Amino acid sequence: MMVLATGSCSKEEPETTPTPTTTSTPTSTSTPTSTPTSTTTSTPTPTAPAPAKPPPACGDKPLPPCPLYSWMKANTSPAISAADFDGLVAALDKVATFAPPGFPNWVSIAKDGADAARVQNLDAVKAACRGCHNQYRAKYKHEMRDRPI
Ligand code: HEC
Repeated sequence: MMVLATGSCSKEEPETTPTPTTTSTPTSTSTPTSTPTSTTTSTPTPTAPAPAKPPPACGDKPLPPCPLYSWMKANTSPAISAADFDGLVAALDKVATFAPPGFPNWVSIAKDGADAARVQNLDAVKAACRGCHNQYRAKYKHEMRDRPI
């Protein structure tokens, strides 16, 4: 007679089902810290880039008149109009002291004019005015008009 081993006592244990313990608590506290503060301080400059030479401080309107220009108008003009020889002597002696560098005949022209005024020769005075203007006025205006006197 055969004894059949009907059962080995081996009983399959059921697999332990893993209990899902993962408690997914969303702990990611991602606070958006990107504060969009634009620090670009772009101040719009409407003026054109500065030219190499500064703009003239005096000259034609609306600029204020230039120093020598004003002086001539205030001193030489009324004296010549009135044939005020004393005034012309004083004015032309003063003009001689304004001589800028690079204007070699300036002083002698002015002094010739003053001498002409001393002998009351109006035409010779006018010739001195004209002589300096013809020779130097344009150059002066071009090069050093805003120079203080
Ligand atoms: C030694 C030089 C010199 C003499 C002399 C001189 N001037 Fe002038 N004058 C000038 C220059 C330079 C200017 C230009 C100034 C400016 O426009 O910035 C000028 C400008 C003037 C102006 C301003 C208007 C213009 O025409 O430009 C008058 C007016 C003037 N002169 C009158 C006289 C009279 C009048 C005399 C003679 C009595 C005289 N000047 C003698 C150098 C001279």
